[in-house]
Amino acid sequence: MTSVDMIEITDEVKEDVIRWRRYLHQNPELSFQEEQTAQFVYDTLKSFGNLELSRPTKTSVMARLIGDQPGKVLAIRADMDALPIEEENTFEFVSKNPGVMHACGHDGHTAMLLGTAKILTQMKDRIKGEVRFFFQHGEELFPGGGSEMVAAGVMEGVDFVIGAHLWSPLAKGKVGIKYGAMMASPDTFYITVKGKGGHAALPHQTVDSIAVAAQVVTNLQYIVSRNTDPLEPLVITVGKFVGGTTHNVIPGSVEIQGTVRSFDKKLRESVPALMERVIKGITEAHGATYDFRFDFGYAPVINHEEVTRVLEETVLEAFGEDTLELIPANMGGEDFSAFQQAAPGAFFYVGAGNAEKGITYPHHHARFTIDEDALKIGVKMFVNSTLKFLK
Ligand code: NI
Repeated sequence: MTSVDMIEITDEVKEDVIRWRRYLHQNPELSFQEEQTAQFVYDTLKSFGNLELSRPTKTSVMARLIGDQPGKVLAIRADMDALPIEEENTFEFVSKNPGVMHACGHDGHTAMLLGTAKILTQMKDRIKGEVRFFFQHGEELFPGGGSEMVAAGVMEGVDFVIGAHLWSPLAKGKVGIKYGAMMASPDTFYITVKGKGGHAALPHQTVDSIAVAAQVVTNLQYIVSRNTDPLEPLVITVGKFVGGTTHNVIPGSVEIQGTVRSFDKKLRESVPALMERVIKGITEAHGATYDFRFDFGYAPVINHEEVTRVLEETVLEAFGEDTLELIPANMGGEDFSAFQQAAPGAFFYVGAGNAEKGITYPHHHARFTIDEDALKIGVKMFVNSTLKFLK
């Protein structure tokens, strides 16, 4: 392997990134409402100089660093939104916005990309081509900010796109690389089972929506276990089941909601019909009726082979073999996939968990946090892979 000179992250940048992350952590904003966050990012980028700044949508920011020499265009994406969670952490920079929390690490993503931009703007003379920095809004809420930014034209002329997630299940010091399918498509369904309400002691005069809906839930499980290829991953989960008001009344209807996760396009597209066949058959068998809606969510994150290889080589050259973790896919979703629809791209994980420091809570938990030492690793990955992509 031919190793280019690796750029090290200075203490100055490391401290900047931690400071920015703490500011963002203290001032979280919900998806599509990232107004102060976007302004903070814009102002910080402006202070670096050498960048062409724009606002592709109301709460997103794009920065273009055009190198002194011609070449390819690399885009790097970070997401900026927080979640509707009441923070339970006790450190000094906890959320100042009640009920809103950076519980997924997007504060760290934004800070890492700012740090990357700061370093690369100082190396303009060494940049061949262009680096485009995407500070994306609304990752956590479908239809997602990614597709809005793509629709606004940010991917025009982009040759490769990369992005990262700080990942607490992975230990700090590790970088997780995955070739091919990495994260699933998160689709959503809504079912109403409609029976006929009445007295709980006179079930024969009713159509019991609870009994029928329970059968629907049970039989939906057979799609995964009996109707689809066991070697092709599929999850069907009912996450909400609501019906009835009290012990002696049979309710007229039951509401069911859930999620479907998959990677394969054909399988994914076959699921709504398979589900409806079950729902229709069960409700008809018992004299009930139904409403059914299936919403396709984000595309799956499928990493491009060549782009992934550059990331893997960056891990090996910048950190060494001990840092590289070839990770399995998971059934979570990520709207980074929106950018991958427009250019070859790859996503990777920056290990952010640390059991010794008690940093073990999962993403989206009220006590989630990251090991801030991971931020420097993310910046080093972005900076050095950029130089490899634009070599
Ligand atoms: Ni996230």
